[in-house]
Formats: sequence, C-alpha cells, structure tokens
Amino acid sequence: MSHQIAVIPGDGIGQEVTPAAVDVLESLDIDFEFVEAEAGDAVKEETGEALPAETYDLAASADATLFGAAGETAADVILPLREAVDSFVNVRPAKAYPGIDAVRPETDLIFLRENTEGVYSGHEDRLTQDVSTLTRVVTESASRQLAEYACEFVAEHGHDGFTVVHKANVMRETDGLFRETVLEVADDHGVETDEVLMDAFATQVCLDPEQFDVVVCPNLAGDVLSDLAAGLVGGLGLLPSANVGPERALFEPVHGTAPDIAGESVANPAAKIISAAMMLEYLGHDDEAGTVREAVEDVLESGPRTPDLGGDASTEDVTNAVIDRL
Ligand code: NAI
Ligand code: MG
Repeated sequence: MSHQIAVIPGDGIGQEVTPAAVDVLESLDIDFEFVEAEAGDAVKEETGEALPAETYDLAASADATLFGAAGETAADVILPLREAVDSFVNVRPAKAYPGIDAVRPETDLIFLRENTEGVYSGHEDRLTQDVSTLTRVVTESASRQLAEYACEFVAEHGHDGFTVVHKANVMRETDGLFRETVLEVADDHGVETDEVLMDAFATQVCLDPEQFDVVVCPNLAGDVLSDLAAGLVGGLGLLPSANVGPERALFEPVHGTAPDIAGESVANPAAKIISAAMMLEYLGHDDEAGTVREAVEDVLESGPRTPDLGGDASTEDVTNAVIDRL
C-alpha cells in the first residue's frame, strides 16, 4: 500500500532539511507518494497568502505531512496546519545522544503537549491603548483526549507512567480542570502519575532530568519546557516532533528557519530525519523507524557532523552518511 505524504518545506533551512528527510525515506523499501506544497514567507510574498488553500487541503487529506519551518508567518502556517490534521497532541522527545556535547547527557524525556488550546486559542484583545487581554481556554474534552493518548502511549512504549506538569495552584479553574481530568483518566486506566508545578519543573529538570520520563502538560508549558530541554541535550538541531490527530499527523522539527545559517547548506538535518522516523512509526513501519533512528544516532556519535555540533560537514554530507548506514 502506498502512503501519500504531503511535503511542505516552508522557508529558510526548512528548504534544506526537508529534502534531506525525503532522501532518507526514498532510500527505504517503502512505497511513498510525495506531494510537495508551498507555505510560509516566500509564498506570502508572491501570492499574499502564507498558507494557500491547496496546501491546507493537501495536509488535511494526505496520510501524513512532513513540514519544515516557516519564518515570520510561522503562526499563520503551523497553527492552521495542526488544525488541518486535527492534531490534539504534540509529541516532543528530548534525548541526549552519545558523543554529543550536552549540558545534561542523561536527559531522555518525552513531552506530550496539549496542542489546541490554553493561551494559544487565539482569544486576544486590545481593549484600550493601555490594556490588552488574553483568554485562556481549557476544556475537559481536550484534556481527556490528551490524557487518553498519554495512557495509551505509556502502555505501548513500556513507560512506568507519566508526570503531569501544571500550575493549578494559581490557575485554579483552567489548570485545575486540566489537572483533575488528566489524573482521573490516568486513574481509570491504572496508569501511575505524579505531578509537579511547572515553575518547579523548570528547575528540577535542569538539576536532575533523570527523575522524569513522560511529561504531560498544557500547550504553552509544553512549548517552553521542551525548548528548555533542547538546551539540555545539545541544541534545537536535534529535536523532532509529531502533531498527532485521530486520523492523520504532521511531523516537524522543533526548530525554526534559522535565518542566521539558511542557504549555507550547513543545517543539521537530524531533527527532521528523526521526525521522519516518528512518521514511519506512525504509519506502522516500526522496523524501518528503528533502523533510521539507529543510523542517525550512529552518525551523531561518529560523524560527520554539522557546525552546530562542532563539525564542518554539510547537510548533504550528514544525510548521505545516514543513507550509507541504512
Ligand atoms: P530557530 O530555531 O530558527 O533558530 C535558533 C538557533 O538555533 C539559531 O542560531 C539557528 O541557527 C539554530 N538552529 C536551529 N535549527 C538548526 C539546525 N537544524 N541546524 C543547526 N542550527 C540550528 O529559531 P529563531 O531564530 O527563534 O526563529 C527564526 C525564525 O523561525 C523566526 O522567523 C520564527 O518565527 C521561525 N520559527 C518557526 C517555527 C516553525 O515553523 N514551526 C518554530 C520556531 C521558529
Ligand atoms: Mg516553540
């Protein structure tokens, strides 16, 4: 069976790391139909629209989507694209790899971030010259859907349980509902949990990341804390992510367009290639996903490496080294 994959490279290094991931996938013995589409600053410049309707429709109908990054228009692109795949959870593994100079080499975390609401619901107002407001939305249904995914995730991947990160001591109604719902679902599924306030988590994860494994959190907390974890493992060039919905999913690196290095062919393709490995798993190709991960880990450990990891290799050198190992 052929999988139709929407390929949306976007801007900046999205244009460099996305083709690298496609090259890796094409080297496997799996039948893919790749369909490319535009999004981001460049297409907005040309057409006035950062996310053309045909790109949205493609993501909403393809079996899975590979996205790179968008520049200034990121919010106009990625938020609707996550909606196009009906994504309710953003899965963000943050793992330190052998041989990489990480602040905390023992880090091995998986963030399961609520992906539709919280402070990113888009309810922001400028009431007067002096006053602006933001409405934070938390629903029982979205919290429940995330918690059910988390329970299935820990069972399927052999984790002992998960940590719920929130700030329900202050945001009593919104995070109160999030906390209560997630803990109740976990209890119903017999999944072990503990809970940590999100500010305390920020300190504790820096001092001793090993005490955590799977972390379930609201939208903004997951965004910020997973970038913090990127700092612990050696940089943004290493963090993949999956936006998962009930029927489709979108896979993207956590990093942006990296304008400081774009066009120089030195972007680290690892985050995007590991995102592609997450896509392989999602599509049921677990063996190939494992092989791709191993190949990337082997290249990270023994080189060649891009400049962000202290090497002088190009994006292509690293990609070809991964393909050679496959
Ligand atoms: P960024 O992730 O693009 O870059 C931050 C730093 O990390 C830069 O020094 C960059 O060179 C480095 N870096 C990132 N990925 C790398 C890779 N694969 N290899 C080597 N080095 C890498 O974040 P920044 O600078 O805050 O944002 C730049 C643009 O990207 C902005 O216009 C922003 O809106 C957009 N952005 C888009 C996202 C998306 O489309 N999902 C996410 C984050 C930012
Ligand atoms: Mg972010």
